[in-house]
Amino acid sequence: MDVRVESQRSGIETFHVMDVWKAAAERQRTHGDVLSLAAGQPSTPAPAPVLRAAGLAIEAELLGYTETFGILPLREAIAGYHRDRYGIDVGPDDVVVTTGSSGAFTLLFLAAFDIGDTVVVARPGYPAYRNTLAALGCRVVELDCGPQTRYQPTVAMLEELDAPPAGVVVASPANPTGTMIEPSELAALARWCDEHGSLLISDEIYHGIEFSTPGSPATSTAWATSRESVVIGSVSKYFSMTGWRLGWMLAPESMRPALQRLASNMTVCPPSISQFAALEAFGTEARTELDSHVSRYAVNRDLLLEGLPDLGITDLAPADGAFYVYADITHLLDGETSTAWCARLLHDTGLALAPGVDFDTVRGDGTVRLSFAGSTADITAALDRLAGWLPVP
Ligand SMILES: Cc1ncc(COP(=O)(O)O)c(C=O)c1O
Repeated sequence: MDVRVESQRSGIETFHVMDVWKAAAERQRTHGDVLSLAAGQPSTPAPAPVLRAAGLAIEAELLGYTETFGILPLREAIAGYHRDRYGIDVGPDDVVVTTGSSGAFTLLFLAAFDIGDTVVVARPGYPAYRNTLAALGCRVVELDCGPQTRYQPTVAMLEELDAPPAGVVVASPANPTGTMIEPSELAALARWCDEHGSLLISDEIYHGIEFSTPGSPATSTAWATSRESVVIGSVSKYFSMTGWRLGWMLAPESMRPALQRLASNMTVCPPSISQFAALEAFGTEARTELDSHVSRYAVNRDLLLEGLPDLGITDLAPADGAFYVYADITHLLDGETSTAWCARLLHDTGLALAPGVDFDTVRGDGTVRLSFAGSTADITAALDRLAGWLPVP
């Protein structure tokens, strides 16, 4: 009898950008010249007070298991952060700390949805929503979101569905486009979901990285409209702490018992050293350091938004926030896929970009994502390498 090696549910798409990372690491080993704009993470460590707190925690704390939903002082700090930013009424009991926002998504999808439930996501969008939902047996419906709606879902799109879905996932600012949802539209989405019995999941993990450029929507939170929605947060992006694996949810009260049952069984608690260290992430010293990163991202963004059109790459998403420029490169491909184009670019120049295939199951073969979370010197060098490699426009 054959030994079972894998479940049917595991037959989801891999995160293809990891293949680029692998190829870039190999190139770095053989040539030592890699410049990567492929990774969706800050190039900086955690803020200094967080690093100090981690050191102290190692000396002074047991660092054993904690409460399943996270230590009270951290939940208080996270609630305070949301209160200060949005003037909304949030307390520590509203906060569920998780193992990265990735852990929040798995936990939440399990708590909220059953096999066969329909969950709506945006296309293009962050692939883990689609793939994790698929692994859990949900039916994923992708909304085709183009430049006319800033690549974001709208109430009008939900109205066109055959039936209200069990869930709707939105992200503002979004990955890979960086685009944001107008506050009035986010509020309308939250109201529509409440009225139709759909769970709105608002991924707000790029909050804090917004560029407030003319025409960009203002930042807003789903909880300003509905405490029946779920807000997802994380220390990964603005807080520059990807590897610390700490995220959180603002979760409706009715959902907390299910979250508690699942989280206590699946992870017991989020990493305790990260929890103690992250207590310092919300203070003035850390925020000053983190805001200086955002100022650098703004400079990098402008360099790309001005430099890419000079190279003939003109079809760019507006990049209201986050640290990505999402570009259509169909006119450069000549029958090639963006995956093959990125591989050739890496081979010829050492420059790594993320092909769009992860983010868009339909048009991703014609797009690339450039991360500008690195140094300004890296962005300038990347544009130089592209200029030397691309045909003159
Ligand atoms: C939109 C979005 N949501 C969630 C995540 C997962 O982040 P983490 O698990 O590090 O909090 C990412 C990571 O790139 C992302 O881009």
